[in-house]
Amino acid sequence: MPEPKPFERLPGNVKPVHYNITLQPNLVKCVFNGSQDVDIEIKEATKQIKFNSLDLTLRDVKVTLPSGETVLPASTEISTANEMVVLTFEETLPIGTAKLSVAFDGELNDKMKGMYRSKYTSVSGEERYSAVTQFEATDARRCFPCWDEPALKATFTIKLIVPHDRVPLSNMPEVSRETHESDRNLRVVKFAKSPLMSTYLVAVVVGEYDHVEDTSSDGIKVRVYTPVGKQEQGKFALDVATKVLPYYKEYFNIAYPLPKIDLIAIADFSVGAMENWGLVTYRETCLLVDPHNTSASQRQWIALVVGHELAHQWFGNLVTMEWWTHLWLNEGYATFVEFLCVDHLFPEYDIWTQFVTNTYIRALELDGLKNSHPIEVPVGHPSEVDEIFDDISYNKGASVIRMLHCYLGDKDFKLGMNKYLNRHQYGNTYTEDLWAALSEASNKPVGDVMSTWTKQTGFPMISVKSHQDGDNRVLTLTQQRFLADGSTGDNSTWMVPVGVSTEKNPSKVVEEVLLEGKTTKVVLDGVSACTWVKLNPGTVGYYRIQYPPEMLAQLIPAIKNKQLPPLDRLGIFDDLFSMVQAGHTSTVEVLKVLRAFEDETDYTVWSALHNCVARLNQLLSHTDFHKNFAAFVRHLFFKISQQLGWEAKAGEKHLDTLLRSLVLGQLGLYGEEAVVAEAKKRLSAHVADTATLPADLRSPVYKTVVSQADEKTYEQMLKLYHEADLHEEKDRISRSLGATRDPNLIQRVLQFAMSSEVRNQDTIFVIISVAMTAPGRSAAWAFFKKNHQELLDRYEGGYLVTRLIRYITENFASEEMAAEVENFFRDKQIPGTERTVKQSLETIRLNAAWLQRDQDAIRRYLAEATHE
Ligand code: BES
Ligand code: ZN
Repeated sequence: MPEPKPFERLPGNVKPVHYNITLQPNLVKCVFNGSQDVDIEIKEATKQIKFNSLDLTLRDVKVTLPSGETVLPASTEISTANEMVVLTFEETLPIGTAKLSVAFDGELNDKMKGMYRSKYTSVSGEERYSAVTQFEATDARRCFPCWDEPALKATFTIKLIVPHDRVPLSNMPEVSRETHESDRNLRVVKFAKSPLMSTYLVAVVVGEYDHVEDTSSDGIKVRVYTPVGKQEQGKFALDVATKVLPYYKEYFNIAYPLPKIDLIAIADFSVGAMENWGLVTYRETCLLVDPHNTSASQRQWIALVVGHELAHQWFGNLVTMEWWTHLWLNEGYATFVEFLCVDHLFPEYDIWTQFVTNTYIRALELDGLKNSHPIEVPVGHPSEVDEIFDDISYNKGASVIRMLHCYLGDKDFKLGMNKYLNRHQYGNTYTEDLWAALSEASNKPVGDVMSTWTKQTGFPMISVKSHQDGDNRVLTLTQQRFLADGSTGDNSTWMVPVGVSTEKNPSKVVEEVLLEGKTTKVVLDGVSACTWVKLNPGTVGYYRIQYPPEMLAQLIPAIKNKQLPPLDRLGIFDDLFSMVQAGHTSTVEVLKVLRAFEDETDYTVWSALHNCVARLNQLLSHTDFHKNFAAFVRHLFFKISQQLGWEAKAGEKHLDTLLRSLVLGQLGLYGEEAVVAEAKKRLSAHVADTATLPADLRSPVYKTVVSQADEKTYEQMLKLYHEADLHEEKDRISRSLGATRDPNLIQRVLQFAMSSEVRNQDTIFVIISVAMTAPGRSAAWAFFKKNHQELLDRYEGGYLVTRLIRYITENFASEEMAAEVENFFRDKQIPGTERTVKQSLETIRLNAAWLQRDQDAIRRYLAEATHE
């Protein structure tokens, strides 16, 4: 494991007990000032007090001792590198309680960190700002001086001084509001005292908002705050939130501990949503539903995001990780639970099946790299903390919890959860604490099993061998670490629950073993040699299966005739695809198996196939036979497109709606003439206002049209962008602009991404959309090299920059490009992107090897397949 970078943590000799904070944001000058008294406990007699503070100017620092005596620090030293302030006193401060008072000034910045400004247009057409906070992971220190570590929980009383016509919000309900004594235009608003909580969950919003509200069946007041005049758009989230609260109350067996919860849409927001206790903040696209303009997939996403952030109100807020090394406890668990609750509220989404394509497969993809990291990862410096909000903490975390849930069963799992939450409420935990509670509840060796998954990097590939012993089938299972470059030599082993299903009863687990060592045998009574056997039914185990050719051949007909359930069909395919990437088998095998899916009708299966097709598309875009691949894909998607057509059927299934959009998008992208023509026609009618495109078809239509676009069409898209008010629509348009293949337009899209027409929160997604085509890939990289300083200044590292770097580099496929990317980043040394860069370099080199290995065979196969 890499050692965390040297970075000073707080010494622990002083602990905060209660913060009494007053904040006054100035929404015109975009600055704020504040003052606070913090009740502290001095645990060891000391001459020094250290706390976190960043980009704040401090004034009037003093300490009041219990005797009433006031002491001033002899020196106040700012350590920018450690994001700390060190107060040194002449006399030793005695053990016991004291009060630290400080006044401070700061700027409402544009970095979407700390307390920042978010721009909106008022009903009168004026440009205005709200003041908003985003503290996770380490940015509370940019708003008020504090002991900014998750284990240093305290209570908070917050007071806001705000213009009288603005809405003031914080974690707790308002308890009083008064006109300011010296300025009648200001109002002084006090909020109730919070429970014990971590600094990263404190939140404040001041701005102009409307809201809708309801009370949940368990008596919690729920409000959804929206931009002025858009309260209708909050209704869907309100409905989800009011139903989710009692569901979690029942599931966790603990009531939501605060009297209210607000969900608010923020115009400028770096991540998707943030679980601040009692005041959850969201990007507009992650909260607002406009019945005419929101697509089914976005609605589903909003349900998941609301479910996720509300799960944190217990898991994360009530019980919090001790340190960021255990971040996955928060994020992995909330990601798992968001599916539980959406499955409960919207069974028609079949969301657990979608979990596998959205979450599980994405984790395995990243985790096959040598530069992956264990779920529990040492971190020190804030930039390292930001970098672990990734597919491992979220998606691998959720996947191993799903595997554990399946291994323990829902009853014991729930019981263990209740124990855990009850035992540690208002406290902090290590990963082991969760295992302890689950072991007690289940009497199973949870800690032993799970630490193999959370402390080691990667996951196993289980190779199967099969022979017949009379009436019985005997399987030999052997595990070894799966590495994307096909190498072995790593001796890690995991404790692996492995299930088996057979042809007689395709959706039943007939046998379950716990593979503990390198290898084990499984005897299947009465299973004949001529029937299929499938491992990992339901695709719950976090590993890959490698079948021998004969076993795989037996499974293919069961894919074709859909005897195997969807999760098993897609699991077999995706495992095979990973074997191909690792060079264990040829890409041609996967192309052949793809054809077994021509009669497929399940959205989730198609979505998994589409993932792999998209990977192959990136790879083969480096070759001169890409057009044959395009023809192959058009053929693959043709039949299902005919079944679905362009028009939604009355009362059709949610998943068919998603599937139509996927399939038409693919055919458009790969240039199916009829689809391109229809897309153009429909867009013209949409622009002319003669027939509005349904929201579900817009993304595929926009992308298809833009991929063929000339200047005039591009202008038309920009016009649509300017006219759109809903962020979701603006996103849809701006993220389709990158589909253009025209070099001049590509440059225009990149300029547009950086312009003031695109919010900073959205810029990187527009650049990424450019990087997804072959001509755009080099253009986006050249653009990044030229503009990296501005991009870094805008975001100051963090989550958005790592996403950008990953997507604009990882699809190159030559040693030459690997070397170029490597040199660039070696030169620039951008903190918080080290691991991401290593992962990208590894992927580029894997792509290069893959292309080398298989391109001739693929060329031959495609030439034949597309000319038959
Ligand atoms: N706690 C995170 C927000 C966060 C992410 C803060 C990264 C700091 C850095 C929140 O609970 C979250 O996970 N948000 C997700 C959405 C969620 C539905 C997966 C996000 O913002 O992408
Ligand atoms: Zn989260």
